[in-house]
Amino acid sequence: MTPRTALSPELTLDILGIAPEDRTDCLSLLEGQAAPAVEIVLAHLTARLGSADDSNPELGTPEIPVTEMDWISAMLRFAPEVLAWHADRGIPADISHATVADLGRNMAINRRVHNRFGMDTYKWLNHVFSGRIYQLGRLQYLIHQPSAEIPGVGAGEWILGVHIPEGGGLGADAVNGSLALATGFFAEHFPEKPVRTANCESWLLDPYLSEHLDSASNIAQFAALFTPYGTPRDEPTDAVYFTFRTRSMEHLSELPRTTALQQVVLNRIDAGGAWQLGFGFLRLPR
Ligand SMILES: CC(C)(COP(=O)(O)OP(=O)(O)OC[C@H]1O[C@@H](n2cnc3c(N)ncnc32)[C@H](O)[C@@H]1OP(=O)(O)O)[C@@H](O)C(=O)NCCC(=O)NCCS
Repeated sequence: MTPRTALSPELTLDILGIAPEDRTDCLSLLEGQAAPAVEIVLAHLTARLGSADDSNPELGTPEIPVTEMDWISAMLRFAPEVLAWHADRGIPADISHATVADLGRNMAINRRVHNRFGMDTYKWLNHVFSGRIYQLGRLQYLIHQPSAEIPGVGAGEWILGVHIPEGGGLGADAVNGSLALATGFFAEHFPEKPVRTANCESWLLDPYLSEHLDSASNIAQFAALFTPYGTPRDEPTDAVYFTFRTRSMEHLSELPRTTALQQVVLNRIDAGGAWQLGFGFLRLPR
């Protein structure tokens, strides 16, 4: 397929928030015709944009394997389509641009984690490229139908999944300001999917974390906004990844223990404990 190309490559990279050190690699991925593997990803992104299908299959065939670079190339090429789709829905440009800038943020994180160009979280970016997630102030909101039971949420009901990108603290003003934006935004731009409830699935909602951090900390105050549901699930690497941006669980003794969070995360593992994913919900402000 041929995406709309009204935007120059340079402007596209600006909107996607691509950092200076990643631009040369991105520009070379945008050069020339899309390779067959990139076409496979483009076809997937085209089918998913605006679709309720959030399945995330492995792409490619033995003859045409699809790599991380093919995903990045396809997403860069497809960005003008997503921006046009947002604009068709009347989504303001500042929200549209803040939303797609998740790509540059994830690329920059990848450089910190692996010290090279790439984006090992490319599957996460499917949410952005399918038009399901929006950055409203400090937080991101994924409009979805939950697969688990949540108190007060009916079968098939749409809810907002709250996600916390890095970039600044989680102060109450920023969080409450963002939540206040969410209801109105989705009522205006997705009236066919009314939402009353938000949920959060995160290591930040592991009950152990709030019990061991200052109750006045931003993290503990954020967690307290949510009513727990379900049973926390072992997810041993999340706390290490999000605190230290390393995928390795080896050499943990070499990591810094400067902040209260760093100490809590490592002390629990030293004591033989495992970090978990906690689940919570809240009713959205009207
Ligand atoms: C979630 C997040 C925004 C909270 O930041 P915050 O508002 O500054 O957190 P708090 O003010 O509650 O911090 C409490 C303590 O933890 C420390 N801390 C918070 N985030 C930290 C981080 N990423 N790395 C190291 N220490 C951190 C603070 O310095 C403070 O310690 P101190 O009292 O010794 O100074 C931040 O941790 C972050 O960006 N995390 C990555 C994104 C993430 O985890 N998303 C959820 C994915 S499911």
